[in-house]
Amino acid sequence: MLKVGIDIGGTKIAGGVVDADGRIIEKVRVDTPTDTGALAQAVIDMARHFRSGHEVSAVGVAAAGFIDRDRAIVIHAPNIAWRNEPLKARLEDGIQLPVAIENDANAAGWAEYRFGAGQGVEHMVMLTMGTGVGGAIILDGQLFRGGHGIAAELGHLRFIRGGLLCGCGQSGCLEQYASGRALQREAHDIADAGGIGEALAALRAETGTISGPAVSRLVLAGDPGATEALRRVATALGEACGGFQAVLDPELFVIGGGVAQLGEDLLAPVRLAYETSLPGYGDRPVARFAIAQLVNDAGLIGAADLATAEG
Ligand code: BGC
Ligand code: NA
Ligand code: ZN
Repeated sequence: MLKVGIDIGGTKIAGGVVDADGRIIEKVRVDTPTDTGALAQAVIDMARHFRSGHEVSAVGVAAAGFIDRDRAIVIHAPNIAWRNEPLKARLEDGIQLPVAIENDANAAGWAEYRFGAGQGVEHMVMLTMGTGVGGAIILDGQLFRGGHGIAAELGHLRFIRGGLLCGCGQSGCLEQYASGRALQREAHDIADAGGIGEALAALRAETGTISGPAVSRLVLAGDPGATEALRRVATALGEACGGFQAVLDPELFVIGGGVAQLGEDLLAPVRLAYETSLPGYGDRPVARFAIAQLVNDAGLIGAADLATAEG
């Protein structure tokens, strides 16, 4: 049985026709419109295109926000202009198929659990390091949704009391310290300070900015300033994982999002910070860490797999 999965990202909308084994039969990517009306229309157009070429039963849409229990309404989105947006109804109107809206990180985590790095594990936490920090919790092989559908917003755990302002309206959220954006901010700070920030400062002078991928390239080239920026965000993430371990005791953490493409360069400092913040370290079993396997496709595969003909 084929289903459509569509992942609305900050820069790209990725969609695909997905089979029951999580395989993508056809895939399309378009730029994400900034206007929310145009964005909904782009999702509708994409789903219609897939519909015309394949026999599909349902559509799953992954979105970066707090989705209600009925998987219908985007209650709040820290980094997009949606507030109580009835996205399911709007999309079903245009697509004429049952649509289920899913939190983007939940969708990615579910895909990793079913078809990727989390196969064979029953208790797993996924964290995505992109524009924001997303979270997914798999407990006993089930996606944990909480009482209102919006559990596992792990990026909005208060990490620093009185810390940086967050798009969710709070301050000091983990997202401000462990996202791709945080990596860029740390890189700017290090460039400003001189010393090991020389290459970052030169890059900024040349290109006018310090992009996430540029920081990653410098890390891979062994630049000390970029490596320090990465160490800071990795440390924040790892410390938070120590806390998640105390609450949820997962067997595995899967790390995804753009920053995760750094692989072991990211995981090594994450593990170090995790282990040194674990209550009872030395005596207790610890979780494994893995990089997400499905990379940019996780959100669309998970959204498709979670969609049902009942909507
Ligand atoms: C949002 C989450 C989302 C994450 C990753 C966070 O700011 O609150 O809903 O999963 O970003 O996109
Ligand atoms: Na989530
Ligand atoms: Zn927040």
